[in-house]
Amino acid sequence: MAKAIVIYYSTTGNTKEMAEIIAKAMNEADLQTKCKSVNDVKAEDLLNYDAIVIGSPTYYGHMAGPIKQLFDDSVAFHGKLDGKVGTAFTSSANIGGGNETTIMGIVEAMLIAGFVVQGDPQGDHYGPVSIGKPDDRVKRQCLRRGRRIAELTKKLST
Ligand SMILES: Cc1cc2nc3c(=O)[nH]c(=O)nc-3n(C[C@H](O)[C@H](O)[C@H](O)COP(=O)(O)O)c2cc1C
Repeated sequence: MAKAIVIYYSTTGNTKEMAEIIAKAMNEADLQTKCKSVNDVKAEDLLNYDAIVIGSPTYYGHMAGPIKQLFDDSVAFHGKLDGKVGTAFTSSANIGGGNETTIMGIVEAMLIAGFVVQGDPQGDHYGPVSIGKPDDRVKRQCLRRGRRIAELTKKLST
């Protein structure tokens, strides 16, 4: 049975709240999903999951250091994450504050590792974005993204 993990870094709770909503939607869509702080994850843990969702606050338009460190540590088994399903999300302070570049940075690292990443023609195209604390729009985007990644993962795992 396919398994997934949502990994986040968060200091003031915004990205964590998004992570929990996404993980809930994935579980409700019948994909067994854990939700963990990056502080509780080791790079080799990534090998255990079919889908990996990563969220970071926007820091200077990029992913936060601990998330980058997770990717850097995964070089120890480079090539072994090939074919996993991935998606990214972020929380920033400002519209135009570098949130989409943050998501794309995570997606670029996922692509280098061989992940399959699905966009969204109707919802937040690259991944859910919150400005500060998630509002109702963001919560809907997180639920939608969670459902979509669960469906894709189940499809690719059969
Ligand atoms: C070191 C640092 C850099 C940041 N850089 C940006 C930035 O480039 N653009 C932006 O809009 N917000 C920036 N922020 C604000 C955070 O992205 C924002 O407060 C976010 O919601 C925090 O997420 P969290 O509650 O999950 O920790 C920065 C915050 C910190 C601490």
